[in-house]
Amino acid sequence: MSKYNFDKAVNRENTNCIKWDFRTRCSQKATQDGLPLWVADMDFECAEPIVNSLRKRIEHKIFGYTSEDTKEYKDSVCSWYKRRFNLEVDGNNIFFSPGVVPAIITLVKILTEENDTVIIQQPVYTPFELKVKNNNRNVVSNSLKYDGVSYEIDFDDLEEKAKNPKAKIMLFCSPHNPVGRVWKTEELKKVIDICKKNNLWLISDEIHSDLIRKGNQHIPTLKVGCDYKDKIITCTAPSKTFNLAGMHLANIIINNEEIQKKLLFELKDKLDIGSPSPFAVVSAMAAYNECEDWLNELNQYIDDNMEFIDKYLKENLPKAKLVKPQGTYLAWVDFNEYGLSEIELEDIMFKKAKVLFNQGYNFGKEGKGFVRINAACPRSILKECMDRIKNAF
Ligand SMILES: Cc1ncc(COP(=O)(O)O)c(C=O)c1O
Repeated sequence: MSKYNFDKAVNRENTNCIKWDFRTRCSQKATQDGLPLWVADMDFECAEPIVNSLRKRIEHKIFGYTSEDTKEYKDSVCSWYKRRFNLEVDGNNIFFSPGVVPAIITLVKILTEENDTVIIQQPVYTPFELKVKNNNRNVVSNSLKYDGVSYEIDFDDLEEKAKNPKAKIMLFCSPHNPVGRVWKTEELKKVIDICKKNNLWLISDEIHSDLIRKGNQHIPTLKVGCDYKDKIITCTAPSKTFNLAGMHLANIIINNEEIQKKLLFELKDKLDIGSPSPFAVVSAMAAYNECEDWLNELNQYIDDNMEFIDKYLKENLPKAKLVKPQGTYLAWVDFNEYGLSEIELEDIMFKKAKVLFNQGYNFGKEGKGFVRINAACPRSILKECMDRIKNAF
């Protein structure tokens, strides 16, 4: 018997919600009457302990400057990593950032000079390329290999790219958005070995690590790379897991004392963005301490949503293929067999079907012919979306 009702459709309009109220930001072709399955947040209500923690905090009626630097807060994060991943994290090595992306970019600026190179693995989360380039660093893609069914790392190519003396950072997405890979120990070992051999910093974005599909297990990069821990930085957050993205709180795990000091200097001393909102702190603690069973049920619901998409495509649009996700709530769907141009595919989705997805080419040229569907929504919305695509095709 399920305890939580993920089928409940909640109207998110008129809440300043980017996904629903600002739909036209999805693409130049998007219209406000399109069904939005784009931005990576969820259309599910937060778990009750989170809402209660916020109610209680609101009742206090004073919302001044706040810090997360308490034993209770750090214990809640460390205990989560121990329980979920059997990873020991020292609370002193966890640093606040208002987001994973601001932390990654700040670290890129700390760890590289202008015109140095950051290695990414496209198709990948768009800001990895965009924001790094906006900060005058080069990006090179160790593109993932796709065999028509799933994705693998091209290790020979990574070896070559890592040898470039300008390459300083490997920016790793684990689990991988959008292809949904959950990396295996052997794969992590090889990535770490290549970084070690070439003295690269390894920034591991593990924001999707709690959203794991049935039969898979997320392994923290730090767990495999404990003898390289001084050069591995892990970016995590409760935001994707518990639908708290608007709270703007991320936990950055840094073991290297020099980099810890540099990050604090950049965020606190230079930008003065070193402290979270009171709502971010209480909601994150409630999430980590009291919402594990909610997350377990959420993962089951998303598994079922993925199965729904897979079956629907097989029955109604057999030329479209879901790349079976091992993690995340994002469905990466291959429409290449239809032989459409990017413009034709976009026109069908945005104009004819009126569904708003992130188009694959936004994740790098490797994503051409794919769309990314955010499946973290009630099944009724997903069904409406699939019906619209079927009818349009
Ligand atoms: C891989 C990845 N990293 C980071 C983010 C965004 O993190 P934040 O909002 O904490 O900057 C996302 C959001 O979709 C993501 O998929």
